Amino acid sequence: MKNFDILVIGNGGREAAIIYKLLEQNENINIYQWQYQGVISNVNPFCNDIDSDEELLKEIVKRGFDLVIIGPEIPLVNGFSDQLRAYSIDVFGPSQRGAMLEGSKIFAKEFMEKFGIPTAKSITICDFEDEKDKLKSVIYPVFMKASGLAGGKGAVFCENYDFALKILEDILVNNKFGDQEGVLVEEYLQGVEISMLGLISNNKYEIFPPSRDHKRALDNNEGLNTGGMGAISPLDDISKCDYEKWGKIIFDKVIAGMKAENIQYNGVLYVGLILVGNIPFVLEFNCRFGDPETQVLLSLLKNNLLDIFFNVAGNKDIGKMEFKNEYALTVVLAAKGYPERYNKNIEIKNYKELMKDIRIIPANLKKVDERFLSTGGRILNITGTDKSYAKLREKVYNTIKHFKNENVFYRIDIGEI
Ligand code: AMP
Ligand code: GLY
Repeated sequence: MKNFDILVIGNGGREAAIIYKLLEQNENINIYQWQYQGVISNVNPFCNDIDSDEELLKEIVKRGFDLVIIGPEIPLVNGFSDQLRAYSIDVFGPSQRGAMLEGSKIFAKEFMEKFGIPTAKSITICDFEDEKDKLKSVIYPVFMKASGLAGGKGAVFCENYDFALKILEDILVNNKFGDQEGVLVEEYLQGVEISMLGLISNNKYEIFPPSRDHKRALDNNEGLNTGGMGAISPLDDISKCDYEKWGKIIFDKVIAGMKAENIQYNGVLYVGLILVGNIPFVLEFNCRFGDPETQVLLSLLKNNLLDIFFNVAGNKDIGKMEFKNEYALTVVLAAKGYPERYNKNIEIKNYKELMKDIRIIPANLKKVDERFLSTGGRILNITGTDKSYAKLREKVYNTIKHFKNENVFYRIDIGEI
């Protein structure tokens, strides 16, 4: 049988988790990665020296792949999946219009309102001078959100009018969050948050079990918001029945909206939910897998991920997803100072891909000669599964402590509410 040639775009912990799952489950594949950092065994570099989407597209078309998996949001928001599809290349990842659900919070809010998806009330401000007085008529506190991509830092809690005005100016006038089309000013909701990820293909969906990431940098949810310091799945505080019911309400409406708006969506939709009482409100949509939620969700998946990706890319039915009846936990080893100022090139000594039954997933790590050096804030994701939550915590934390030194830190309460 012919080997499949698969290209994975992106090189964080999420993409590493995808690659490990594909390699674990399949022998007949050659995995290529853009850009490969030399850490994961049995992966080939693809065009590591290319930085522009245009050049990359040319090389992909020239080389030909059986499947391209797009991990991060930026190429999706830039329409890379449409460009590949125009050359009849199978792609896992939504169209540019689909990716607007993440790329424009204003678009996402209008979509939710139009199709009856429960979400926080909000107003939109696009011009600072003309519209800043709108901030006088909202009830504080509020969340202010830059509409476009802001690397996970675009949502700011504002206690009062003065602070909200300053943030509005930072976003619209000082471009502190990049070039933004506008700002959403959203009512502040209080409740527990969960991540609901689902695959969409052929106007149908399949959801992953509920997961939760821990966004704040420090224990007890203190410190700054980060990309995520760890994740757990499933969640003891969420009933399976409620979760599936919410999933049906949200995904049925999302898919109906996509049909009505003629949006082609072949990929994963990440729904960030907050439960107010027992009512779920959508805080955000992402058009790609969550990081680090993917690390736990894929370690629970029983189906062959490659089959799923081919089905989604080909707009076929996904097939019923099955999951291990276990817990999965991942804890992030981060550079001291993350998410603000931190050092790169921190050496990770004694790095191995596996330690007993724990997977050490590289998130921002490169191999230089025989040394493993950090390339970003979140360096490793120590990930495992077990039927017993207590045993799992012990295994994961006993492993991560091998990497402890004065240059790195991790939270000790991942998995706890
Ligand atoms: P977002 O980028 O929209 O996911 O927001 C990042 C984080 O800010 C969320 O995970 C929540 O913790 C918090 N957040 C965002 N919007 C709200 C809101 N309307 N009410 C309460 N918390 C929010
Ligand atoms: N873990 C949050 C995210 O992937 O956006």
